[in-house]
Amino acid sequence: MKNCVKSLIFLSLTLLVATLVTTTVVQAAIEGGDAKSGKALANEKCKYCHVTGADGGTMTPLSKTQQQWERFYTKDQHNKKAPGTWDKIKTNELIDIMQFMYDHAADSPQPATCGQ
Ligand code: HEC
Repeated sequence: MKNCVKSLIFLSLTLLVATLVTTTVVQAAIEGGDAKSGKALANEKCKYCHVTGADGGTMTPLSKTQQQWERFYTKDQHNKKAPGTWDKIKTNELIDIMQFMYDHAADSPQPATCGQ
């Protein structure tokens, strides 16, 4: 009987840990930014380098999946591809822009373009 209780406790703990891990993964999403202001900011601060024929090539929220945007932002990948080009963009502006990209990414519930 004691063993039975022990294995029940063990099972509950395992389930609890599994739930916590899943929640943490979901929370890794980009959140807290203002996607609406991000759209305007993207037009102002990103688009001039990201139209057909410009240095950065075309870029819209559809260029990446949500997970790819998240990785792109958290791993500072722009700085590796085009060093310094984000230096004049404030962190809170970037968060809004990334929120817009993320919310309308290729695999998001509302895929959208940069107004193109
Ligand atoms: C001063 C020019 C410039 C500005 C401003 C700029 N970029 Fe870029 N971006 C580049 C260049 C150059 C590349 C590299 C293109 C390549 O490797 O072919 C790039 C690459 C990218 C890529 C593609 C990376 C990949 O995985 O292939 C994304 C996405 C991107 N930029 C997003 C943005 C966003 C979002 C903004 C605004 C916050 C922005 N860029 C502002 C020049 C710029």
